[in-house]
Amino acid sequence: MRIVSILSLLLTASLSAQTIDDRVEALLKTMTLEEKVGQLCQYVPDQDEWFDAMPRGLAGSVFGTPGAERSNDMQRIAIAGSRLRIPVLVGHDVIHGYKTIFPIPLAIASSWDPKLAELSARVAAREARAAGIRWTFAPMIDIARDPRWGRVAEGAGEDPYLSSLMAAAYVRGFQGDLGPQSVLATAKHFVAYGAPEGGRDYGPAEISEATLREVYLPPYRAAVDAGVASIMSAFDSVNGVPSSANRRLMTGVLRGEWKFRGFVDSDFAAVEQLINHGIAGTKEEAAIKAITAGVDIDMVDATYQTLVAAVRDHRLQEFVVDDAVRRVLRAKFAVCLFDDPYTDETLAAKVWLTKEHREAARRVAQRSIVLLKNQGAVLPLSKSGTVAVFGELADSKEDMLGSWAGEGRAEDAISALEGIRNAAGNGARILFAKGSDDAIAKEADVIIAVLGETREMSGEAASRSSLDLPGTQEQLLESLVATGKPVVLVVMAGRPLSIAWAATHVPAIVNAWQLGTEGGNALADVLFGDVNPSGRLPITVPRTVGQVPIHYAHLPSGRPASPDDKFTNKYEDVAIGPLYPFGFGLSYTSFAYSNLRIQGMTVSADIRNTGSLTGDEVVQLYIRDVVASVSRPVRELKRFARVTLKPGETKHVEFTLTPRDLEFWSERGWITEPGTFRVWIAPDSEHGLEGTLEWK
Ligand code: GLC
Repeated sequence: MRIVSILSLLLTASLSAQTIDDRVEALLKTMTLEEKVGQLCQYVPDQDEWFDAMPRGLAGSVFGTPGAERSNDMQRIAIAGSRLRIPVLVGHDVIHGYKTIFPIPLAIASSWDPKLAELSARVAAREARAAGIRWTFAPMIDIARDPRWGRVAEGAGEDPYLSSLMAAAYVRGFQGDLGPQSVLATAKHFVAYGAPEGGRDYGPAEISEATLREVYLPPYRAAVDAGVASIMSAFDSVNGVPSSANRRLMTGVLRGEWKFRGFVDSDFAAVEQLINHGIAGTKEEAAIKAITAGVDIDMVDATYQTLVAAVRDHRLQEFVVDDAVRRVLRAKFAVCLFDDPYTDETLAAKVWLTKEHREAARRVAQRSIVLLKNQGAVLPLSKSGTVAVFGELADSKEDMLGSWAGEGRAEDAISALEGIRNAAGNGARILFAKGSDDAIAKEADVIIAVLGETREMSGEAASRSSLDLPGTQEQLLESLVATGKPVVLVVMAGRPLSIAWAATHVPAIVNAWQLGTEGGNALADVLFGDVNPSGRLPITVPRTVGQVPIHYAHLPSGRPASPDDKFTNKYEDVAIGPLYPFGFGLSYTSFAYSNLRIQGMTVSADIRNTGSLTGDEVVQLYIRDVVASVSRPVRELKRFARVTLKPGETKHVEFTLTPRDLEFWSERGWITEPGTFRVWIAPDSEHGLEGTLEWK
C-alpha cells in the first residue's frame, strides 16, 4: 500500500476517533445526572423498570432479540420520546450463530483455524443485524481446564495461545468494519470464570497471579488488542475479590496496562449479586463498588438506578459516572447508532439461513470434527450395504444446535440421521433405532452409535459431577459391540466425555461435539469420506472424572509420574495421563515428521503425507523452559500451522519464536531467563520431534 494511502488511512482513523470523542463530549455536557445514569442501565424489554425508563430515555441498552420491527419501535420511542434522542443499544447472546447456527465454539476451536472462527462470527453478525441487534455478548473466551464446568462448550478450550488466536478472530468477525453488517463484540467473562472450584458454575476461583497472567488473561489481551468494543465482568470471585468489583483487574490491568477504551458490561445481575458475595450490604453499595471498579453498564438488575442518589448525596463522585457514560456513548457512535439507528425490516428474509450461510456452517462443522480412533480403517464408510444407526441423539435436530444457539431453530437443523441418509442416497440402506434393536443390528453391515449429551447438559448452569456417557448409553454401546458387527461411535457433546470403555472396545470413534444447523450433513461428509477429518482436540479428554483437573501444560512434579514407581505423581487406580491428549486428532491418511532443524529461534521440520488420501495436518510447536527460577510447564503451545498435503507430498514447516514467547510472569512482571529450552514440532501435546535451543 502506497505511503500516501497509509497516511490518509491513519488520518481518517484519527479524525473519526476525534470526531467521536468530540461528539461524546458535546452530548455529555448537556446531560442531566438522571440521563447519564440511564445510559448505564440495561433492561430486558417489558421488564418492570423498562416501561418507565424507556420513554424517558433512561434505558441506555436493551438485552434480548426483539426483531427488526420491535427494535425500530424501541428506537422511535427512545429517539423521539427522550429529550436528547439518544438511541438504545440492543444486545443479545449471538454466540455461535443467530439463525444459521455454527458448531459450538469448543468445536470450532477443534478446527485450529481462526479464519473459520472469524467466518462464523461474520455470518452471525450479518444475521443478527437483520434482527436489529448491534451488540453481541460474545465471544466467550474463558480458559477451561475442568470439563465438569458446562460452559467449557462455549470457549476455545484449555490453552491460552489457541484461545487468544480464536478470541481475536471472533472480534474481527463480529466487528469487521463496524459497518451495517457488524455488531459490537463482548469478550467474556472477565475473568477466570472458567476456573470455578470443582467445576461448579458460578463458584469462586483461587488462582496465583502468575497463572492469571499466563493462562486466564491472555485471551482478553488478545481481544483488547483486536479492538473488542466491550468486556463482560464475570459472576465469579478470584482470590476472594468478586470479578464485578475487581478494580485492580478491570481498571488497573484492563484500562491501565492494556489501554482498553471500550466499556464493561456486567453479567446478568452480577452487580446486585455482590451482596451475595458478601462485599456489599445494599444495592447502592453494590452499585458504587461496581462502577468504581470499572463496570460501566449494569445488566438487568436495575442496581445502577441507585447511583443518582449516591452522587446527589456525595457518596459517589459524578466524574465516575461521566467516565462510564463516555465509554458507552463512544461505542454507540462507533457502531453508527446515532447516524443509522434503524434496521431494514426486509433484510432478515434476505440474509437468514441463506445457501451461502448454510455452506459456511457445513464447512466449519466438517473441520471441527475430531477423529479419535479408526482401528482397521472401519472409516470411511462405503455408501453401500446396510448401515444401522442407533441412539436418540442421532434423530435429534435440537441437540445438534448445542447450547447458546441464538435464534436457531431445530426445524432448520440437519440431524445426524438425516445427514447420513442424505449422504447415502440410494447407495446404502439406512436403518435406525433409538435404543437396542437386535433385528436391525443383525441386518447391519456396520453400526453407527450416536451417543453423548443433550444440549441442556452443557452450557450455563450445567456442571456435571460425571463425564461418563449419560444414562444407559454405555450399556447400549456395549450391547452393540457385543453383536460383533463393526461399530462407529459418534460422540455428540458440549464437553469431553470420559469414554474409556469405548476407547478400548470400539474400533472407530468420532468426536462430533454439537455441530450446528448443518451438523448432520458435515458429520456424514466425514463418515463417508467425502471430507477427510482434520480436527484436533482443544481440550484434554480424561480417562475418568477423577483425574480432573488434567491438562497438558501442567507443572512438573518432583516425582514425575512413572508406571514403574509407586512413589510418583499419579493415581493408583487409573493409568497415567489422559485418554486423549490436547492437540490430538487422526486423519484418514497418515503423516510422518522428520528432519527437525533448529537455527537460533527458528524451528522447522518436514511433514510428509504417508497415506493415500489428501489430508490436513495441524503441525504444533511446543516449548519447555528446562531450568528457570520457578517451575515451568512441561509443555506450552507457542505456534501451529494447518498444512494440506497430497499423498506422498512433503512440506517444510518453519516457525520462528520471539523472546516474548519465552517469557513468564514474576514479581518483576514479564521476564525471560537465559537457558536451554526443549522444543517439539508435534502432531499433539504428547508426541513429536524433540530438540533444544539456547536462549542467551
Ligand atoms: C448469562 C451469561 C452470560 C450472558 C448473559 C446474558 O447469565 O453468564 O454469558 O451473556 O447472562 O444472557
